[in-house]
Amino acid sequence: MTEEKLLLRALRRETLPRPPIWLMRQAGRYLPEYRETRATARGFLDLCFTPDLAVEVTLQPIRRYGFDAAILFSDILVIPHALGQKVDFEEGIGPRLEAVGDASGLARLSAARLHETLAPVYETVRRLKAELPADCALIGFAGAPWTVATYMVEGGGSKDFAAVKTWAYRDPDGFQRLIDLLVEATADYLAAQADAGAEVLQVFDTWAGALPEAALRRWCLDPVRDIVARVRARHPAVPVILFPRGAGPLYRDFAVEAGAEALSLDVAVPLAWARDELQAAAVLQGNLDPIQVVAGGDGMRLSAQRILETLGKGPLIFNLGHGIVPQTPPEHVGELVELVQGWKG
Ligand code: CP3
Repeated sequence: MTEEKLLLRALRRETLPRPPIWLMRQAGRYLPEYRETRATARGFLDLCFTPDLAVEVTLQPIRRYGFDAAILFSDILVIPHALGQKVDFEEGIGPRLEAVGDASGLARLSAARLHETLAPVYETVRRLKAELPADCALIGFAGAPWTVATYMVEGGGSKDFAAVKTWAYRDPDGFQRLIDLLVEATADYLAAQADAGAEVLQVFDTWAGALPEAALRRWCLDPVRDIVARVRARHPAVPVILFPRGAGPLYRDFAVEAGAEALSLDVAVPLAWARDELQAAAVLQGNLDPIQVVAGGDGMRLSAQRILETLGKGPLIFNLGHGIVPQTPPEHVGELVELVQGWKG
């Protein structure tokens, strides 16, 4: 059987007429139709756990722009919620969690009801698989253990990660137990998304760049490699994309050691370096600055072209270096999609 979906072909390193495009956070507040659906849900987690609504917001950017892939609408913080931690999303503030700071906090968490709590997410994946256009691939995702742990220990977002780092540096064996719990839950969660029909899986390690080298290896690279191996054992054909944001030269270690098919590059990774040092070992995804899409115009077009010209011979998945921001004019996204989908190499 010939596989038509461009994203899957890119992930198999096939030579393509143009790279596929999808954008991190392509469903979200920059779209008026998202804001309208969001207003009908009681809270953000209800949006994630109501398949009718989650399917609808996943499909909105596909209908509007014809992206080559859809990413399941959910959040990385459904895992702490499913482990029994209290998670809230406050309007205009972001996520708030009842912080876990030590062994006694850890003892209150349990994976016993993981799949029961996350069942609506799997239902969303099944419905999306049935409803998506034939040429649009379905991406499932989860947060990496370190990034999810930062929210669990800090109790929300953080500027300096002082609480989570203090725990990790002072009591590495104790902190390792939190990471181990997350490795197991995250691998099970990703495998269940693949069971339900996800064709590609992305692991977001948004805060990898906050750690020095040795800690980054222990708390980001090792757990993510472990997750890839566990998912691989159950779904050998499902490709994995890793986003170790801020890893700098250690992107090379992820390319060589993590066992994933693809790496998502943050905005700071130099393009020629990525081509020369990473592209032989990993399919590359990225890395337009999301603020270029806010600004739009010639600057956006030139920056997108530079990515296409440097990495576009492939394998490349066109994307941003981080998620779309809420103030992005929707018409700039349309222009970007047209530019990439019309690229003639
Ligand atoms: O379109 C998509 O990309 C799919 C859905 C998606 C969301 N979050 C929806 C969301 C994905 C893949 C995520 C991942 C995520 N969530 C990450 C990793 C990627 C990244 O952007 O760094 C992180 C760190 C989170 C945690 C999170 N969720 C924060 C810090 C916030 C608050 C900040 C913000 O942008 O509002 C959220 C909330 C969130 N997740 C929203 C959306 C659309 C906005 C909430 C709302 O609509 O009220």
